[in-house]
Amino acid sequence: MTDSLTIRDNRTGEEHEIEIVDGTIRAADLKKVGGLATYDPGFVNTASCRSAITYIDGEQGILEYRGYPIEQLAEQSSFLEVCYLLLNGELPTSDQLAQWTHDVTHHTFLHENIKSLMTGFRYDAHPMGMTMSSISALSTFYPHASNISDPENRYLQITRMIAKMPTIGAFAYRHSQGKPYIYPDNGLSYCANFLSMLFKMSERDYVADERLVKALEVLFILHADHEQNCSANAVRSVGSSQVDPYSAVAAGVGALYGPLHGGANEAVLKMLRRIGTTDNIPGFIEGVKEGKEKLMGFGHRVYKNYDPRAKIIKKATEDVFEVTGVNPLLKIAQELEKIALEDEYFVSRKLYPNVDFYSGLIYEALQFPPEMFTVLFAIGRTPGWLAQWQELVTDKEQKIARPKQIYTGERQREFVPIDQR
Ligand SMILES: CC(C)(COP(=O)(O)OP(=O)(O)OC[C@H]1O[C@@H](n2cnc3c(N)ncnc32)[C@H](O)[C@@H]1OP(=O)(O)O)[C@@H](O)C(=O)NCCC(=O)NCCS
Repeated sequence: MTDSLTIRDNRTGEEHEIEIVDGTIRAADLKKVGGLATYDPGFVNTASCRSAITYIDGEQGILEYRGYPIEQLAEQSSFLEVCYLLLNGELPTSDQLAQWTHDVTHHTFLHENIKSLMTGFRYDAHPMGMTMSSISALSTFYPHASNISDPENRYLQITRMIAKMPTIGAFAYRHSQGKPYIYPDNGLSYCANFLSMLFKMSERDYVADERLVKALEVLFILHADHEQNCSANAVRSVGSSQVDPYSAVAAGVGALYGPLHGGANEAVLKMLRRIGTTDNIPGFIEGVKEGKEKLMGFGHRVYKNYDPRAKIIKKATEDVFEVTGVNPLLKIAQELEKIALEDEYFVSRKLYPNVDFYSGLIYEALQFPPEMFTVLFAIGRTPGWLAQWQELVTDKEQKIARPKQIYTGERQREFVPIDQR
């Protein structure tokens, strides 16, 4: 074998040949090397699946969904078209898109009891916690969703989830505002309807500015999938037990809720506010270089080049500000970026703006409070989670996720009665 690895076990002097396929070895093959296993906290160098959905080249700054560059999709596609692409592997024909749009639009309403469940949350409940709980509750409204081996049934649940996510997110937002929930308007597009459910007051029809609708489409497209990130992995891990997709996606929402995953754009806003004026930037940068703090919105585990999503968001920022007026923090962000991109510290560490550097500025201009930022991310990411879930349940090679451990605790102790401890 030429595509192979020869491992010499110095404990025994034995040599073992292990096949290399697609730049990987199978961890299970290592068992024959004296029962060897791999140890990889955080899965930094372990592939957990074969996937045909999203391709990332972090060195080159490339992101593709099903082979289509993110730049082309953001510019020319709609979010629902991208959902179809992620789920089906191909761009839809106009008939297919019309059918898909019809199906999603048909399912935007929530059962009234989900609404009652949501009204039961405290007045200050975090909208992300409300979103996670409501999605998980959907599994009790659609018990047939547990029949995951039936493709038609899967399609129905996938359609429902993509349709209902904006309704849940908008209800959660209205709840935090103490405002009445607004029902979907199925005469509107996916994003225009979401804006209506968020911001409609007493007017008969809520008409969102087309430029803001387009910006939201772009933001959702940019967040739609990002291969095996923390939340996709959570969906796959929970889904590997063959539970229904609502429960699996609720796990993904839970993972996204964490500050290391979905919360960085809020941190960027706080940082920009703290810097306050462009005069304070040099002092701030010095502090970062001395290791006192991080430049939030810069750096990425995978991208060692300009995050392609950040470039697109920067452009969308300009379009949104045309409508809403310029967020004064933009000037600080732009100056900060300019200085950082020329500074040896950031250049040598390959630290470039990531997707979160500008997204918080747009969300704020669209009048979202910071607690809603992660909910927006979750709505955009739902097709990605579902595409990953679908790929998982149709992949014959997948098994229930069950990692090994290195046991470091005590062994074989005698039980001590409580009065003798
Ligand atoms: C995203 C992130 C967690 C990636 O971390 P990572 O891949 O583990 O990279 P490391 O932490 O090993 O960073 C490598 C070096 O760059 C530095 N670095 C990384 N991100 C930095 C940042 N945002 N500001 C300043 N220095 C940074 C590290 O201190 C380290 O320097 P050293 O080699 O002198 O020790 C990290 O870049 C970060 O915390 N960024 C800010 C938060 C953020 O924007 N998160 C959103 C990600 S989409």
